[in-house]
Amino acid sequence: MQKILTIIGARPQFIKASVVSRAIQQTEGIEEILLHTGQHFDANMSDVFFNQLNIPRPRIQLDIHGGRHGEMTGRMLVEIEQALLAHKPDRVLVYGDTNSTLAGALAAAKLHIPVAHVEAGLRSFNMQMPEEINRILTDQISDLLFCPTDAAVKHLSHEGFAGKNAQVLKVGDVMQDSALLFTEKAIPPAGKLPEGFILATLHRAENTDNPQRLTTIVNALNTLHKSVAPVVLPLHPRTRKLIMQNGLELNVHLVEPVGYFEILWLLDNCNLVITDSGGLQKEAFFFGKYCVTMRDQTEWVELIEAGANELVGADTAKIIEAATHNVERKVQDTDNLYGGGQAAKQIAKFLNI
Ligand code: UD1
Ligand code: UDP
Repeated sequence: MQKILTIIGARPQFIKASVVSRAIQQTEGIEEILLHTGQHFDANMSDVFFNQLNIPRPRIQLDIHGGRHGEMTGRMLVEIEQALLAHKPDRVLVYGDTNSTLAGALAAAKLHIPVAHVEAGLRSFNMQMPEEINRILTDQISDLLFCPTDAAVKHLSHEGFAGKNAQVLKVGDVMQDSALLFTEKAIPPAGKLPEGFILATLHRAENTDNPQRLTTIVNALNTLHKSVAPVVLPLHPRTRKLIMQNGLELNVHLVEPVGYFEILWLLDNCNLVITDSGGLQKEAFFFGKYCVTMRDQTEWVELIEAGANELVGADTAKIIEAATHNVERKVQDTDNLYGGGQAAKQIAKFLNI
């Protein structure tokens, strides 16, 4: 029996782990232990996903959140190392590019425990992003690299992975698996919503921690809400804090962060997505919606090539123009860009070899 210890901690990781853990449970010969770092801790940022997606309760629950990046990552490293020494897994599994990802991979690598990385190879080529640092370093110390896209495979090849003692495997995107699996459970969020709405999310450090970018984005969303179409925005706790600290007013239809079944409903029923989220860019595509991305780069370059996504940065005029021109525009996945819902099954298969 192979023992895998999986590290999760942030909202996107609960969604990704839900489908992979399910596939692992259906695979004989693997036992999985879940460790939650505590990075996301509000009920609507964590518990709701465990409840809705039927994720087993983590066997190891840490309580590490907040503080500066070094402090958060360092505290995680200390406590994850203790958990690894106690549970002695054969392998550690990490997802994406958060501080929990890097801490988990580093703790394992230092103990010579092999690391599998889901969402390997993604790059924005912007080293100012904490996520870019986390993903590059995690890839470097992983030996099983599960890539979601051709672009991810290409990046690893350029970084010399062919000559390393590591396996680079294109498996598709686990978020497509989860979108397909759970769409039939989609439910509207509580409360009355406006008709014909734009779905927006905003939380990236590069936007929220920069008062100038935050202001120009808030101005764009306020204008769109008033003059183009109502904007429904589930507000991330980071963004709520920074909007208050900067004395800004976000005059759109604000709701608390919603559960996964509710976000799927919002994606299905909106006319357009405006976001800086990695996950939402793809989910917009899965639901046939155009995406206006408030970033200067994206890791999901195939969406730009497919004409389904456009980068507008934090420029007020560009955000308004892109949204106005593309509201109600439909997009289609003609090339099966993300694997069609088979990623988790493939990951479980390779983990079992
Ligand atoms: C983190 C990830 C980011 C990912 C995002 C998903 C890093 C470096 N960043 O960003 O890549 O896109 O998660 O949502 O790992 N907070 C709460 N309640 C919560 C969670 C967070 O109040 O349940 C607060 C924290 O205390 C902190 C702020 O929100 O003040 C930011 O949280 P943090 O986990 O540091 O980063 P995210 O912005 O969530
Ligand atoms: N999400 C959710 N409720 C929300 C906002 C997002 O369930 O209020 C889901 C959505 O599926 C998204 C995922 O959480 O793809 C990850 O979201 P986030 O934008 O926080 O992280 P990122 O993908 O940018 O790392």
